[in-house]
Amino acid sequence: MKGIFPLNKFRELETPFYYYDANLLRQTLQTIKEESGKYNKFCVHYAVKANANPKILGIIRESGLGADCVSGGEIKAAIKAGIPASKIVYAGVGKTDWEINLGLDYDIFCFNVESVPELEVINELAAAKNKIARVAFRINPDVGAHTHANITTGLAENKFGISMEDMDMIIDRALAMNNVKFVGLHFHIGSQILDMGDFIALCNRVNELQEKLFARQIIVEHINVGGGLGIDYAHPNRQPIPDFAEYFKTYHKHLRLRPQQTLHFELGRAVVGQCGSLITKVIYVKQGTNKQFAIVDAGMTDLIRPALYQAYHKIENITSDEPTETYDVVGPICESSDVFGKAIDLNKTKRGDLIALRSAGAYGEIMASAYNCRSLPKGYTSDELI
Ligand code: LLP
Repeated sequence: MKGIFPLNKFRELETPFYYYDANLLRQTLQTIKEESGKYNKFCVHYAVKANANPKILGIIRESGLGADCVSGGEIKAAIKAGIPASKIVYAGVGKTDWEINLGLDYDIFCFNVESVPELEVINELAAAKNKIARVAFRINPDVGAHTHANITTGLAENKFGISMEDMDMIIDRALAMNNVKFVGLHFHIGSQILDMGDFIALCNRVNELQEKLFARQIIVEHINVGGGLGIDYAHPNRQPIPDFAEYFKTYHKHLRLRPQQTLHFELGRAVVGQCGSLITKVIYVKQGTNKQFAIVDAGMTDLIRPALYQAYHKIENITSDEPTETYDVVGPICESSDVFGKAIDLNKTKRGDLIALRSAGAYGEIMASAYNCRSLPKGYTSDELI
């Protein structure tokens, strides 16, 4: 075992694979429960999109978190893991009829509705089943998060949600319908947010919008502020558990709620990001003209974040203790963006060494693809291997 990794077990497994530290995940969940539990009526949903590995969902279900789903497939995965439908919220700009019907059949907690046409379809499908769908409106708060352009969602230019100007109109439409019940407002400003100021800006916007509703004698049952809390990719060992105390305190301090209102969160990355690593084997060390490449058997098909978002994942040689040398760490895929890191200092690396790409528990395994006819990576938890 070097550091946190059971190397003897790793040597028996086919690479590449994801390895999840189940104890770290449990500690993270415990911290979330403790810190959110300090405030009355904070409800945390896990954003299934970050990682839907059944073993991970099982551990999350044990902690009592609800689920935030964005497809029928995710609703099925959450239900299969044992998460009660009464704790499932369902968002997405393009919900299809079968997906809406699935949510209605399970009587999920709430549909986070993103447009008038969607509201009309939910009302119709609910009527056909003689049901009343609980709906919240996803309002685009036009608050920018200081994060990568591909993962901000709360700006007016994004496809998500309903504009603030249209909020009253869509509420009026819902109030006139027989098979939907308007219960909440939903927001989400982006992902990998580390500056609490961004969340404060969202709180201020929600407060303004709530004032408008109070003036109309409307007090919604709940506010859902989405997810977005980031993790420390540079130092996965220094801060394996994100600062949930500060995160929940920020909302407690800045969001004005009426006593009967509950506050919902949809956290993905902060829950599972740090517990996962992608483990890959060095196939070749190749001397280039003026650099050396460590060519590994994982590629952008297994972890697309570096290629897609220029994301940084800490790279470690977990089987070598020799002095460091500098490498470009690259995968075998026929794309020049298939690079995990350039000019990375690694302990001297040779064919057969194992490399860990850290902080890969969120948006890693779930975003894997079969491009180049590759197999999808497997995922193991420490419960199975240690
Ligand atoms: N709620 C909604 C409505 C969302 O769209 C998202 C993420 C979340 C919650 C969870 O956000 P989190 O707590 O994980 O930041 N693939 C990208 C991230 C995409 C995030 C999409 N929406 C990446 O690898 O960075």
